Amino acid sequence: MSTFYKPLLIDNLADIQNEVLNITSIDSLLDIASKERGTIHYIHSAEYMFERSPSLSIFFDNIGFLTYKESIVFGWNFVPPGVKSSIHLDSPSSTYSINIPIANYEGTFLHQYKANTSGDILEYPVIGKKLNGTFFKPEDCELVETHETTTPWIVNIQLPHQFHNPSKNKYRYTLLCKILKEHTEAHELVKKLVGSPGQF
Ligand SMILES: [Fe+2]
Repeated sequence: MSTFYKPLLIDNLADIQNEVLNITSIDSLLDIASKERGTIHYIHSAEYMFERSPSLSIFFDNIGFLTYKESIVFGWNFVPPGVKSSIHLDSPSSTYSINIPIANYEGTFLHQYKANTSGDILEYPVIGKKLNGTFFKPEDCELVETHETTTPWIVNIQLPHQFHNPSKNKYRYTLLCKILKEHTEAHELVKKLVGSPGQF
């Protein structure tokens, strides 16, 4: 059975959070969220992110990505208060995502489901483009596990999942670092991390 969720302990997490907030502040995301419907927006290139966040660069060096940084696709997951996503698989271009909580993540959750159908492939909007994902009806799914997303984690985004922000007034802000599957060495590396100790 594939591992769905692997927590990671990152020593310089606070530095990463501050640097990411300096790149894209909550205020600027609120401004975008007031105009756009989607909660996810794929952002800058790996080069742009690593130039502006040395701590993020150090973390990826520590986990062995020194020569595979171009295999990472960065995105925001900025989830409005009260929002529970549909149960879905992400775009098939990545199997694993390393997700880093940036702000307002206490009391927010990731659920994994087992689906008894293969779901429906649909386009979903991200700001500036559309991606294909697979979506399931809740009645075709059974809850398998739930995680409060307070530490960084690796998630298999090709297993049915759902994020949930039950907060009444806070946007959950997470940095998504998706590892491109067609970059086989980077994909094998993140797969290995799922099975190794999680302190970095
Ligand atoms: Fe997802």
